[in-house]
Amino acid sequence: MKFGRIGLAMLVATAFTVNVGSAAEKDPLAPRVPADQMAAAKAWKNPMKATPDNIAKGKEIFTGKGTCFTCHGNEGRGDGPAGAALDPTPRNFHNPKFPTAKTEGEMAWVIKNGSPGTGMISYVPGVISEEEMALVILFERSLATQP
Ligand code: HEC
Repeated sequence: MKFGRIGLAMLVATAFTVNVGSAAEKDPLAPRVPADQMAAAKAWKNPMKATPDNIAKGKEIFTGKGTCFTCHGNEGRGDGPAGAALDPTPRNFHNPKFPTAKTEGEMAWVIKNGSPGTGMISYVPGVISEEEMALVILFERSLATQP
């Protein structure tokens, strides 16, 4: 009896289904901004420069006042204690493809509006200011070059 390629494909498909059964990141490279707001979102330019000093300030907000770390984890790997029960899980900012797929403006849109249908709610202006958001974005994007 031969199982051949179809048998193998079914085995692979079964393994994949089991893997995605538990909570995971929802495709991190797919857009979150609604199509009709995308152009406006992408037009946002970060007023802060990605200097080591500004990235350090962004980390301070991320791990402090902003409360981002509770879900995204101290190192931004998406593994914070409050994120463990969320489905989809919080973003892991160490994904090297993330900053190419998403502009800073798209990140700003999500930080202001939340990502509908997920645990990511609005943090600006309720929790942090626009200026603090600009610094946090620099920190989050800096993580993509750190494996
Ligand atoms: C209560 C948990 C929680 C907290 C606190 C939180 N986030 Fe999130 N965040 C999430 C989840 C869950 C996602 C994934 C949403 C999705 O897949 O659409 C996410 C996604 C994101 C994204 C990715 C959006 C995209 O387009 O892929 C950014 C940027 C972000 N968060 C920034 C922040 C910042 C900045 C803070 C702090 C000011 C913060 N988050 C605090 C849960 C949280």
